Amino acid sequence: MHPMLNIAVKAARRAGNLIHRAADKIDHLTVTKKSHSDYVSEVDRAAEQTIIETLLEAYPGHAILAEESGTQGDSEFVWIIDPLDGTTNFLHGVQQYAVSIALMHHGVLTQAVIYDPTKNDLFTATRGRGAFLNDRRIRVSKRVQLADALVGTGFPYTNFDHEEAYFGIFRELMHKTSGLRRPGAASLDLAWTAAGRFDGFFETGLKPWDIAAGCLLITEAGGMVSDLAGSDNFLKSGHICAGSPLIHEQMLKVIQPHLSDALKA
Ligand code: IPD
Ligand code: CA
Ligand code: CA
Repeated sequence: MHPMLNIAVKAARRAGNLIHRAADKIDHLTVTKKSHSDYVSEVDRAAEQTIIETLLEAYPGHAILAEESGTQGDSEFVWIIDPLDGTTNFLHGVQQYAVSIALMHHGVLTQAVIYDPTKNDLFTATRGRGAFLNDRRIRVSKRVQLADALVGTGFPYTNFDHEEAYFGIFRELMHKTSGLRRPGAASLDLAWTAAGRFDGFFETGLKPWDIAAGCLLITEAGGMVSDLAGSDNFLKSGHICAGSPLIHEQMLKVIQPHLSDALKA
């Protein structure tokens, strides 16, 4: 395993264990509202601290971009961290959440870890070396027809700017796929797409920490990731479409006629 991935795995497991222990006392946690429907708990913050400490202990010169504490440091190496992706699920006792850590080097994603502590699923990828679930190599789905595809997504719930386009896409995909799912943790939706559980995924308005690790997993598993217009601005825009090459292409054909100018940018 690449030494930087090894450290990221260590950080993700530490945070995952902390989250797993806290899952037994969700009724006693301090929870703050960040904005409409957007909550953060003391567990999110403690998990983030553990991850940052673990990474910086090994690589003190590296920079950080983390959901709860923002940016620190200035380096060609930037760790992109979502300490607890799926906070709403976690706070409701719904067991679908994960720790997501990616490393960007000179603007290129090079390492990725997504750890689901409830299932002990560890998804990892190093650029050019493939994607793995625990010790097993993973690949995107082999399904060829959109009509047979199971597609993951996330509903808008804090920002409703793209609601009309989103529901237009949703309605058409509802008719043209074999099913849509909204599990509630974008990082895992992407990891599941890399592992072929989902054939495709789309969502609007995500943040870099939701998607950075998942995007590397998907490309290393032989899949495609783009924004909703088919170009590669997804980390910035947060509007994303991903899947196996064939399903990704068919999803983009459905999605594109619904896009507003803002979603094309
Ligand atoms: C959220 C989850 C969710 C997605 C949201 C994200 P959080 O992350 O990934 O699936 O739909 O847009 O904000 O807030 O639980 O880390
Ligand atoms: Ca998130
Ligand atoms: Ca989070």
